[in-house]
Amino acid sequence: MARLDPHSYADDAQPRTKSFDWRATVDFAARVLHAEVTLHFAEPAAGGPLDLDTRALDVDAVLDASGAPLEHTLHAADPILGRRLEIAVPPGARSVRVRYRTSPEASALQWLTPEQTLGTQHPYLFSQCQAIHARSVLPCQDTPSVRQTFTASIDVPSRLRAVMAAAPLSRELHGERAVERFEMPQPIPPYLFALAVGDLASKDLSPRSRVWAEPAALEAAAWEFERVEEHLRAAEALFGPYDWDRFDLLVMPPSFPYGGMENPRLTFLTPSLLAGDRSLVNVVAHELAHSWTGNLVTNATAEHFWLNEGFTVFAERRILEALEGPEMAALHAAIGHQKLQQAFAQHAARPELTKLRTHLVGIDPDEAFSVVPYEKGYFFLKALEAAAGRAAFDALLARWLGAHRFGAVTTDDFLALVEREIPGLLAEVDAKAWVDAPGLPATFRAPDSARLRAVLELVGRAPAPGETKGWSVTEWVLYLEAMPRPSPLAVCEELDRVYGLTAAKNPEVLVSWLTLACESGLTDGVLPRVEEVLGRTGRMKYLKPLYRALAARPETKPLAQRLFAELRARYHPIAQQVVRGVVA
Ligand code: BES
Ligand code: ZN
Repeated sequence: MARLDPHSYADDAQPRTKSFDWRATVDFAARVLHAEVTLHFAEPAAGGPLDLDTRALDVDAVLDASGAPLEHTLHAADPILGRRLEIAVPPGARSVRVRYRTSPEASALQWLTPEQTLGTQHPYLFSQCQAIHARSVLPCQDTPSVRQTFTASIDVPSRLRAVMAAAPLSRELHGERAVERFEMPQPIPPYLFALAVGDLASKDLSPRSRVWAEPAALEAAAWEFERVEEHLRAAEALFGPYDWDRFDLLVMPPSFPYGGMENPRLTFLTPSLLAGDRSLVNVVAHELAHSWTGNLVTNATAEHFWLNEGFTVFAERRILEALEGPEMAALHAAIGHQKLQQAFAQHAARPELTKLRTHLVGIDPDEAFSVVPYEKGYFFLKALEAAAGRAAFDALLARWLGAHRFGAVTTDDFLALVEREIPGLLAEVDAKAWVDAPGLPATFRAPDSARLRAVLELVGRAPAPGETKGWSVTEWVLYLEAMPRPSPLAVCEELDRVYGLTAAKNPEVLVSWLTLACESGLTDGVLPRVEEVLGRTGRMKYLKPLYRALAARPETKPLAQRLFAELRARYHPIAQQVVRGVVA
């Protein structure tokens, strides 16, 4: 009897879910899913309790395979884990069925009014289950170490379309309603369960990839992501065949809290990527890379999240290097280094969260989230690659992916594999310090390249136009992120006068600039633009630095609080929680 995961009630002595059948009716008026799930076990049950994770679910009935009721208890809510649903499972049982309803406050679901969509005519619903929100959509063993296949059937208004991170099977019209069926043949961790319902249209990008979006955004989306097949080919050349059949993209409403989410077969993307210049497709490369690192080889618990994200950033930059060259990859790595240093400063009071391997008993994964597992994980893998040589490290990566396909992994699994494959390598880079100590160890090597040095040499002053000629979005972001905080007002004013940064269209450049300006006390013309950005996006990567910059100065702190009170209803529940922590 032992818990598999500090964030789940799943117990290793109890039956394991192997697959489930899910049926749901989407009720936009009540903001509720009326649903039923049948969990099928890997083995006939020995008899005894089965503990499922739930959050804010109303349980109507728990039944056995013949439809007879089963004894069950819905325990009191834990603030992080939610409510344990304990079911008495008779010996020999191969499945249990739960009828239930979700809550309008389900943490994984955002219900949008028509006005909150691009088209303004139809409501919209989407899910975001990582890390531990799947339990607010369905009762389940909500830990990545229990992989499950599923079938799904969703009943929606016939004007709308349902999409899932799964293979679509059929759509049947029944008057005002339509029933859409799906199946997921590859076993997934529950955090990759995903759906969206809205006024959606699609356009093919390649034989195995199409993009879905609200009709008004479809053409822009198809243009921005036109080269997705090139990404797929580059990734397959690096990491082996793509195992998920299709790689479709879904452009989300503006309130989507992340840049992207690697839902298998159907990556979810923020509409802020539609910059009109294809400059932000590294996010597509990142979510695609998760098809190997994360979705195929999955962190066993959130304590090993760096195995998902650090490896994926490494893979993302390899794809980028293949498509855009090593200089571009180095610029991205240098931005990562800047963001990592900012994160260390923000975590000064909680340095234990800057270790790669974390201890998260009693800590919500959403609260522990930062760029540390991403960028420190990336630099750890770069240190190993530098010490081993690229060819040897590529071979090691292939071993890692091959050994744990459709598995769940821990930090020790990785360390053991490295020691076995290349004895002495861990000691050479001081792996212990990387994994279990805060900050960056002495074996860290900052990224370097000629193009990168040319940018960093200008940091601290406003460059002349000749010096920024030919700069990409990436160079601008690096320059702005590397600027001292605060920077002299005169420097900021000159930057804005010469380069019109407050009017920048690219959201990465714009947010990096607005953050620097606010942190430096430049407010003229800047604050209205900040307000506009905070009202038009729900992406946490933009909300957090802007609210934090406003809240950090006494002159603008009241504005941060007023804006949050005004705008919070537009934000996703997770973003609301995070921003509340920043402006409090
Ligand atoms: N899986 C993450 C998003 C996520 C992490 C959701 C943790 C919930 C909990 C996704 O792959 C991601 O990392 N997105 C980044 C992309 C960036 C690193 C290119 C983002 O949203 O900014
Ligand atoms: Zn990721």
